[in-house]
Amino acid sequence: MSSIKIADDVYWVGVKDPNLRIFDIIMPTKYGTTYNAYLVKGEKIALIDTVKKGFTDEYFANIEEITPLDTIDYLIVNHTEPDHSGSMVELLKRSPNIQVVCASTAKIFVQNILNSGNNLTGLKDNAFFELGGKKLTIKLTPYMHWPDTMMEYLVEDGILFSGDGFAAHYSGDSLFSDELPNDIDLDREALYYFDTIMRPFTGHIRKNLPKLDELDIKMVAPSHGPLFRKNATAYINKYKEWSVDKAEGKNQVAIFYATSYGNTQKIAERVADNLNKAGFLTPVHDVTACDKMKARELIEESKAIIIGTPTFNGDAVKPVWEFVNLFSTVDTRGKKAATFGSYGWSGEGTKLVSDRLTGMKIKVLPEPFRAKLVPSDKDMAEVDRFSGEIVNFINEG
Ligand code: FEO
Repeated sequence: MSSIKIADDVYWVGVKDPNLRIFDIIMPTKYGTTYNAYLVKGEKIALIDTVKKGFTDEYFANIEEITPLDTIDYLIVNHTEPDHSGSMVELLKRSPNIQVVCASTAKIFVQNILNSGNNLTGLKDNAFFELGGKKLTIKLTPYMHWPDTMMEYLVEDGILFSGDGFAAHYSGDSLFSDELPNDIDLDREALYYFDTIMRPFTGHIRKNLPKLDELDIKMVAPSHGPLFRKNATAYINKYKEWSVDKAEGKNQVAIFYATSYGNTQKIAERVADNLNKAGFLTPVHDVTACDKMKARELIEESKAIIIGTPTFNGDAVKPVWEFVNLFSTVDTRGKKAATFGSYGWSGEGTKLVSDRLTGMKIKVLPEPFRAKLVPSDKDMAEVDRFSGEIVNFINEG
């Protein structure tokens, strides 16, 4: 596909990658994806984003259908992830006078890509960017999904260039969402994209979305997949739904454990009982039997997550590590954690899990609780004391 006019003097100049089957190492993409880039012509000419390295020639050819590369005045960088910045070095080699414009937080990343700080302008939130006959309002949207992320709103045409926000991985014949084949479930694809890319940042999304409320948006032009011109704000509203704070108003502490012989389970159930008596909802789950989607919901809904692991061969057990890996797939800011477990002779598992959670910037109760093999009455009294520590730890803010 070559360039496509999307409004007067506004063009899609992106590229398609229909054969991509894994995005960013972890995300299967059965419909491939697109790397959307846009060109806006006022008295000055701005390009919005570049494309992934490997597609540079096609991208340049699309731009040159509209204007020669050396007539471009600005490159606007919505964030610096390489699927959108991969052609930046070559673009600036071909047209060295282009001024690169980005969020002020993105300047260091751009410098790290270009290995130069020349012709680089950082913008603040709500900055106006005037092209002469076309004006862009900048909306900084940090952590949607990179720290340097921004969007811009083209005032004359009501187009929101939303970067990775409101995107979906889809590459087909159509450019707009209202032209998709009937068998494409865009809601599902957009939710899958949100779930994989945006869900760890729901707290930031809640802060960023109100910035868009004041804009009269007629079209949303994201950096992947279809553009939205009918019911343009539908996915902005869906993002509001999907990023709701699930822990708000819910006094919940979730307890997850793995157990071979029932000893770590015995501690888990006592902790749950104690916390329940202290006023918390306390769902208890064996990690080997808990669906990953359910586990992620429970992490999001809970103020704290208490994890029990036995120790095998000097380590926590694999299902517990798989559970801990889920923490980086959701928003865990402000969550607390504690660990416990039964062990035979060495008992490193609890501490290793605590250390990993601490490394993920989760506040962890410093001392795990451990019991040797079958917890005795004395051990269970210690579990009661440990439970009290958890309550104090949660309540201390
Ligand atoms: Fe599509 Fe965050 O790159």
